[in-house]
Amino acid sequence: MSSENSKNFSEESIFKPAKAFSKNARISSMAQYKRMYQESIDKPGVFWAKEAKELSWQKKWTKALDWKAPYAKWFVGGKLNVCESCVDQHLTNGRANKAAIIWEGEPGESRTLTYRQLHREVCQFANVLLAQGIKPKDRVMIYMPMTPEAVIAMLACARIGAVHSVIFGGFSADSIVDRLEDCQAKAIITSDGGYRRGGVVPLKANVDEALKKYKSLETVIVHQRIGSASCPVKMKRGRDLWWHEEAAKASPQHEAKAFDSEHPLFILYTSGSTGKPKGILHTCGGYLTGTYATCKYIFDMQDDDVYWCTADVGWITGHSYITYGPLANGVTQVMYEGAPNFPDFGRFWDIVEKYQVSIFYTAPTAIRAFIKAGDQFPEARDLSSLRLLGTVGEPINPEAWRWYHEKIGGERCPIVDTWWQTETGAIMISPLPGCTPTQPGTATLPFFGVDAAILDETGQECKANEGGKLVIRKPWPSMLRTIYGDKKRYRDTYWNDYPGIYTAGDGARTDKKGNFWITGRLDDVLNVSGHRLGTAEVESALVGHKVVAESAVVGCPHEIKGQGVVAFVTLKAGIKTSDALAKELRNHVGKVIGAIAKPDEIYFAPALPKTRSGKIMRRLLKELVEKGTISGNVTTLEDAQVITDLQRQIKK
Ligand code: PRX
Repeated sequence: MSSENSKNFSEESIFKPAKAFSKNARISSMAQYKRMYQESIDKPGVFWAKEAKELSWQKKWTKALDWKAPYAKWFVGGKLNVCESCVDQHLTNGRANKAAIIWEGEPGESRTLTYRQLHREVCQFANVLLAQGIKPKDRVMIYMPMTPEAVIAMLACARIGAVHSVIFGGFSADSIVDRLEDCQAKAIITSDGGYRRGGVVPLKANVDEALKKYKSLETVIVHQRIGSASCPVKMKRGRDLWWHEEAAKASPQHEAKAFDSEHPLFILYTSGSTGKPKGILHTCGGYLTGTYATCKYIFDMQDDDVYWCTADVGWITGHSYITYGPLANGVTQVMYEGAPNFPDFGRFWDIVEKYQVSIFYTAPTAIRAFIKAGDQFPEARDLSSLRLLGTVGEPINPEAWRWYHEKIGGERCPIVDTWWQTETGAIMISPLPGCTPTQPGTATLPFFGVDAAILDETGQECKANEGGKLVIRKPWPSMLRTIYGDKKRYRDTYWNDYPGIYTAGDGARTDKKGNFWITGRLDDVLNVSGHRLGTAEVESALVGHKVVAESAVVGCPHEIKGQGVVAFVTLKAGIKTSDALAKELRNHVGKVIGAIAKPDEIYFAPALPKTRSGKIMRRLLKELVEKGTISGNVTTLEDAQVITDLQRQIKK
């Protein structure tokens, strides 16, 4: 998709923010952005300390940054409780009775929690966790649907210094086991189930399945979202507890103790180029400062905004831009449990109209699905409350950008295309909505304090329009601190290409104006519907099936998902290929990882293209699925006939 886009990019017109927007925006001119950006790069400690001061600290830091590459410590000596900045501070700054979360369940019910109510719930649940013996730095897994309780659980962990690790509710029991084993969690917080597309996702049953393999877990706390009539659950005595029963016994008062700025806040697993997901570790002070400041400037959050981020809390976007950043800004936000197309593709626009959403943040894949569903859905709703739109997760193709701009933004809302990663914790490259001229397909310019560049293999900075590796040359507060339990992988993955410089794993180029155009991953990681998926993870799921001898997985362009998953599978001797077997293998991957990983296509290959030393040549497979043919150097290929056979199959 990327190379085709780049042809269109140069022909695209440039969109400047409307005067009406700029007038009230925090950053209202490019001159202001450039001045602040330069200052933030010259003196990052000064810039970030000013932002951090707007949060609640129980003890001020003595030094803004301690940098011994690749290890950063931000706000050294400072002590804070992240939950105080997100919740408690609003009890005394005039926002106590302001709606913090307006939640809508998929079946249609609605619930509002003010900051005061949120505080009460978080304190009560913090006491529930304490009663179960959860201590600072203990890992607590959260596997829940999109309900306020998911946010409450995260904040309660943060409040008592426990480290949460949220797992997306679409992941399977096996995925839970892998992550439990890696982080050695002491407790899981889950729900009986969640509503999705009219059905019930049996979350507790998945946890039970996982705990047959991971036996050392002490406590499971179950929030009752659905009720026993539609979602019966088995409770294991001595291990499983009902959230409501424990909360009823717990005090709603809890004094927030301060933790070191570098105290771990959460571990979030993401895909890398091996089969084993990486536990990205974020810490308190720097992460909160980064998410707070980016919300303030990039979403231009104002006190009367109604903000809605459609991500799931199981991904980094849900952590940074549902839980921590927006709440630290004291904004009112909408949270929605279910699918965008339930009962039809008008659901999101109904919600925008009903709650008068003013800032809306979603993924390009959703926009493409809406385009396909038809304009009648947004056209039937009043979307005039919207003032700012955002996208995240993957490059946005010009067609989707323009549709979003016209049909959703009514041609008046700026669009912030935000580039960042689980590892970066907060947005790194993005327009500022009141000043940056935007163009479909570019995330434009780096945020304050972000020293982004494109380097070639030798470490030289690329010229305009020359493709290279996207890097960040200076530390930033919300950067990952390590991969949990694997410092070597941390150093090897991010810091090995150029000394002291963070390599993002993305290819990119800048244009003459300095705008960054992200072209996609450079490693064996796919971006399926804005979600990261390692090809090695899917391959290892496939070879885990008894009939599979070998497999190779590559991405292919996909109209809605951005990238689809294509698997080449060699079966064990004597096993016959069939459509039914392909279906079984797809479902097997769904069971091992989760539905997002199911291959879109499975090709049975008598053999895979390999080098003489036995390495699978994925480059050739990728070319085959993208173009139907291969070009370039194939002299290293061991058996050229393999390619001819596959070509015939793909054509069919
Ligand atoms: O390839 C980039 C792509 O998503 C990757 C990060 O994925 P993840 O850690 O799951 O976080 C997604 C949400 C922040 C990046 O390496 N990506 C993310 N945002 C953009 C993007 N690619 C292009 N444009 C974006 N705005």
